[in-house]
Amino acid sequence: MRAYYFDNLPGDQRLPHDYVPSRPVTREALAKMNVLSWTIPVEGYAAEVDEIARARGYKNRDTIDVSREGMGEIYESKIKGFFEEHMHEDEEIRYILGGSGFFDVRETPSDDWIRVAMEPGDLLVLPAGIYHRFTLDETDRILALRLFQDEPKWVPHPRSEATDANVHRLGYLRTIGVGA
Ligand SMILES: [Fe+2]
Repeated sequence: MRAYYFDNLPGDQRLPHDYVPSRPVTREALAKMNVLSWTIPVEGYAAEVDEIARARGYKNRDTIDVSREGMGEIYESKIKGFFEEHMHEDEEIRYILGGSGFFDVRETPSDDWIRVAMEPGDLLVLPAGIYHRFTLDETDRILALRLFQDEPKWVPHPRSEATDANVHRLGYLRTIGVGA
């Protein structure tokens, strides 16, 4: 996993969009935004992922294959939707089994994008209420394990004034010590 500030230049969202020189972001800095991450080798990953799942109460899991082959007809609309800035009222937890892609998370209050480049073995927890988006990179495929507690809704709430006032958004800001 590698995280860095997104360069905000126009162009294909699947390109790295890394500043030159790069402006790296550490795991610790992400953790202060309540974005938690681990790297667990895919070979023999089960025990370690099970332990994190147990400790954090993720009782359920499934896999998602984000690729044209894996998604069929809904691929284009899904890809577009994933890259629209949004938040959820549930945590979004992903462990990458294959392929690669980028999660962009909004830093608050700077409003900068931080890009997290995810590879096999990376486990990422996005807290409820954080604005984020996702894109595939140029490999055009990611295979991910989704972990969850009970029945997540994962409804995307697009960024808006109304979403800014969502209790989960406000709760997130409180936990990172920003805002009311
Ligand atoms: Fe999301």
